[in-house]
Amino acid sequence: MDTPAAASVISPFSPMRIGPIALRNRFIKSATNEGMAKGGVPSKMLVEHHRRIAAGGVAMTTVAYCAVSPDGRTFVDQVSLNRESLPHLRALTAAVHGEGAAICAQITHGGAFTFLPELTRKYPLSSSGGLNAAGVLSGRLFKTAMTAADMRAVLAEFVAGAQLAREAGFDAVEIHMGHGYLLSQFLSPLYNRRRDGYGGPAERRARFPAQVLRAVLDAVGHELAVTCKICVTEGVKKGATAEDAAAVARVLEREGAHLLVLSGGMNVESPWAIFGSKMPKEALTSIENRIVRFAAGLQELAAPKIEFRELYFREHSQKVRAAVKMPLAYLGGAKSLAGVQTAMADGFDCVVMGRALIHDAELVNKFRDGRATTSACTACNRCVVMMYTEGGTSCVLFPPNDPLLNRTPAAA
Ligand SMILES: Cc1cc2nc3c(=O)[nH]c(=O)nc-3n(C[C@H](O)[C@H](O)[C@H](O)COP(=O)(O)O)c2cc1C
Ligand code: SF4
Repeated sequence: MDTPAAASVISPFSPMRIGPIALRNRFIKSATNEGMAKGGVPSKMLVEHHRRIAAGGVAMTTVAYCAVSPDGRTFVDQVSLNRESLPHLRALTAAVHGEGAAICAQITHGGAFTFLPELTRKYPLSSSGGLNAAGVLSGRLFKTAMTAADMRAVLAEFVAGAQLAREAGFDAVEIHMGHGYLLSQFLSPLYNRRRDGYGGPAERRARFPAQVLRAVLDAVGHELAVTCKICVTEGVKKGATAEDAAAVARVLEREGAHLLVLSGGMNVESPWAIFGSKMPKEALTSIENRIVRFAAGLQELAAPKIEFRELYFREHSQKVRAAVKMPLAYLGGAKSLAGVQTAMADGFDCVVMGRALIHDAELVNKFRDGRATTSACTACNRCVVMMYTEGGTSCVLFPPNDPLLNRTPAAA
């Protein structure tokens, strides 16, 4: 990694604005599914998890994967943006604000990437119908192409989800357009085979995601920061490239997104690309269903040999940086202060971190005070397996979370 040229580079500890909100510095906690919302209701553990991260110095923490509708969930135990969750979400946002940080809700519809035992329709929604790649893991072997009416309905769900997030006290919403969820299924050439105005080249594949963004901006964008998480590479043959991502970024910039969070990789086709390294063996052995375990094993066999390296999306993200002027967040293997400064020197406006902050919620304060220059996270990815345990996501190098706290609703 090059050493950043000091003087002209913006400090990651300096404040910044994203749309209508001000952040105290340029460190943001990435959405990492917490496994702390049994039956969709946020738990006291979820509050404590984000409170700790906020106290550790980040400017903003992101609550993973908040489903905008019942069919939009991937799992049953995932935060649901509904009236029942509202008091619990308010407890969560209040705790984070109490530590001086902002809080963002990642708003998501899973589309065909769903493991729900029941849906209100026969097949899950996607950009195109037919065989469902995610069905190899979920057993839902077919998906259905969204009609214009489906698009209107889902767009309204994103708007309602964003409005509920505002009511709950969130400062920002991150529209999830990456990793293979519904809006990513529009952006991805692996999924989107439409022949109407929503398919074809990257700009047209971005049309429905951009319409969702527009509607969310109109509904809450004057008060909340509205960001989008996209893939800079899908990390797999025939998947979207950095050039596609640059085209998508231009569309989202034109539409007025306040910030893009640049990620990569797909849940089904290239999970290793999301993390810059392979999944741990336990991720496979802990899957109860034998067929699903076998499918996940095949998925891992297909994984290329890759070793984790810091800032593993740097080259792809630089191409997106060159394509737009709007604020961009670097994400992917940022774990040392030098790495963060390199991303800032590349022209990114802030840095989003996942595993380094799961490992040590205090990391940003430690960087600032000189108590640490790098994270001791080993990028083993075993925290991914912890999502499904009783205490929820945590670093395996420390004792697991308290299951009782994770069974207690946040506002109880
Ligand atoms: C335990 C765990 C759960 C994750 N869950 C989500 C999620 O719900 N939504 C999402 O967009 N990304 C999720 N991710 C991916 C992270 O947001 C991030 O893109 C990835 O970890 C790379 O960033 P890092 O190198 O800073 O960890 C998850 C990552 C981990 C480790
Ligand atoms: S389990 Fe801990 S060390 Fe391993 S990747 Fe997750 S946070 Fe890092």
